[in-house]
Amino acid sequence: MPQYIASIDQGTTSTRCILFDHKGTIVSIGQKEHRQIYPKAGWVEHNPDEIWKNTLEVMALARINISATAADIAAIGITNQRETTVVWNRKTGKAYYNALVWQDTRTAAYVTQYEKEGRLNDFRDITGLPVSTYFSSLKIKWLLDHVDGLRAAAENGDAIFGNIDTFLIWNLTGGPKGGIHVTDVSNASRTQLMNLRTLQWDSTMLAEFDIPAAMLPAIKSSSEIYGHVHNEVLPGVPVAGDLGDQHAALVGQTCFEPGMAKNTYGTGCFLVMNTGEEIKFSEHGLLTTIAYQFGNQPAQYALEGSVAVTGALVQWLRDNLGMIEKSSDIETLARTVDDNGGAYFVPAFSGLYAPYWRNDARGVIAGLTRFVNKGHIARAALEASAYQTADVVEAMQQDSGIPLASLRVDGGMVANGLLMQFQADLLNKQVVTPAIAETTALGAAYAAGLAVGYWKNTDELKKNWAIAQTWDPSMDEATRDGLYKGWKKAVSKSFGWVD
Ligand code: G3P
Repeated sequence: MPQYIASIDQGTTSTRCILFDHKGTIVSIGQKEHRQIYPKAGWVEHNPDEIWKNTLEVMALARINISATAADIAAIGITNQRETTVVWNRKTGKAYYNALVWQDTRTAAYVTQYEKEGRLNDFRDITGLPVSTYFSSLKIKWLLDHVDGLRAAAENGDAIFGNIDTFLIWNLTGGPKGGIHVTDVSNASRTQLMNLRTLQWDSTMLAEFDIPAAMLPAIKSSSEIYGHVHNEVLPGVPVAGDLGDQHAALVGQTCFEPGMAKNTYGTGCFLVMNTGEEIKFSEHGLLTTIAYQFGNQPAQYALEGSVAVTGALVQWLRDNLGMIEKSSDIETLARTVDDNGGAYFVPAFSGLYAPYWRNDARGVIAGLTRFVNKGHIARAALEASAYQTADVVEAMQQDSGIPLASLRVDGGMVANGLLMQFQADLLNKQVVTPAIAETTALGAAYAAGLAVGYWKNTDELKKNWAIAQTWDPSMDEATRDGLYKGWKKAVSKSFGWVD
C-alpha cells in the first residue's frame, strides 16, 4: 500500500512538491522559485518552460529526500496560481507566448471599454465575476489579438489554452506524446468562460470574448483520476486532484460546511467562504466561485474576496527599494515603532480588487509627515494586508449574513506575529492558525487522496485539523475606528490614476 500523497503547488513565486502522510503530516518538500518577468509597467509574465522544468525538479527533490519511489506514492494532486494563462502548441508543447500572470494589467483597455458601456457586471449572473484584468478571459483574448497566427492555430485546434494546472497535467501525462487536456471546475470558474450552473464552457461568454471552443480543456471534477504520470520522475502515478490554490486552502482547512471560511496571506490575500450547494451572488464586490467538486458529488460554491497585493508588497520593499534584506526582516523593522505614525500604504499595484474593483487605482503612501520613518512604512505595509482583509470581511458578512466567529488563516505571512495580532485587533475577532500550515498543498493532496481511496471521506480529513495558535483581539474601539477611517481615506487617494 503506497504511504504518501504528492502535492504539486505551483504558486505565483515558486513551485513546490510536498509529500504528505495519512495524518496530513509533511514528510518531504522540494521547492524552487521562478523568474518574475516585468516587460513593461503593469505587465507580469512567467516562462512556462521554466515552470515545467522546476516542477520536474521539485518532484524529484521531494522524492529523493526520503528515497521514495513511484510505488510509495498513491496519487498526485495539483494546485496552482489561478487565472494565469498559457497557450501552447499541442504538437510541439511549445508556448506561443509567456504566461500572462493573474496580476498582469495589459488588458486594462478592454476593461475600460466595458466600463464606458456600463457593462462591467453584465456577466456576473453566468460566471460570478466582473469584467477585470484579473481573469483569464481577457488574457486569452489579448493573446489571440496580438500573437501572429495564433487565432488560426486556435481555431484549427493546434493552439490550446490552459491555466497552470492544465499545462502541468498535460505535460505530466505525456505532453506532445498524448498529454491529457483537462482542468477542474474550480480553475475553470476563474476563466470567466464557465457557466456556474452547468459547469460547462458557456457559448455566450466564448462569443463575447471571441474565443474558439477548440482551444479549451475538458472540465472535470476536482477529485478523480485524470490520467497517469508519463515520465521517469514518478512513472505511472495517478494524477487525481486539481484545485485552484485558494480552493485548495479551503479544503486543506477542512472548511466543508456552509459558512466556514479561510483567509490565505500569500502574494495576495484571498478570503473564501463555503456557501454549500447554493450559488450566492454578491452585492458588495465579492466573487461567486466554485469551492470544489469531489468526484460525482454536487459542486460546492463559495464567495471570495480577492486582494491582489499583500505579501507582494513586502517583496517589493525588499527587491525594488532594498529596504529589507529578506522578507522576514519586515517584522523586525515594523517593531522598531509603536504604530504607523499616521502613514497608510495602499498597494494598488494591479488596481484594487475586492471589494472595490478599481482598474484605475494605483499604489499610494498617504499621511506622510517628517515624523514618519522606515519603521512606520514597514508597519504601514504590513497593516495594509490587515486593512484589505477587513474590507473583505465586512463585505463577506454583509453578503452572507453570517457573522464570522473567528478567522482561520494560513499562508506565508501568518508567521508574522505583529500582523496576526493587528489583524485580530482590527477585526475584533479571534484569528486562528492550523497545526498543518501548508493548507494549499494539503488541500490538493486531500482531493487526490479522496479520488484513490487513500482517505475515505471528509470526516476523516476533519480529524487532521487542529489549532496551532490563536490571536485574541485587544484593541479598544476608538483606536480601531480611527485607524480604519484613516485607511478608507488613503484608499480614496489611490483612485483615478489610469484613464
Ligand atoms: O488568484 C491568484 C491566486 O491564485 C494566486 O495565489 O498564492 O500564488 O499568490 P498565490
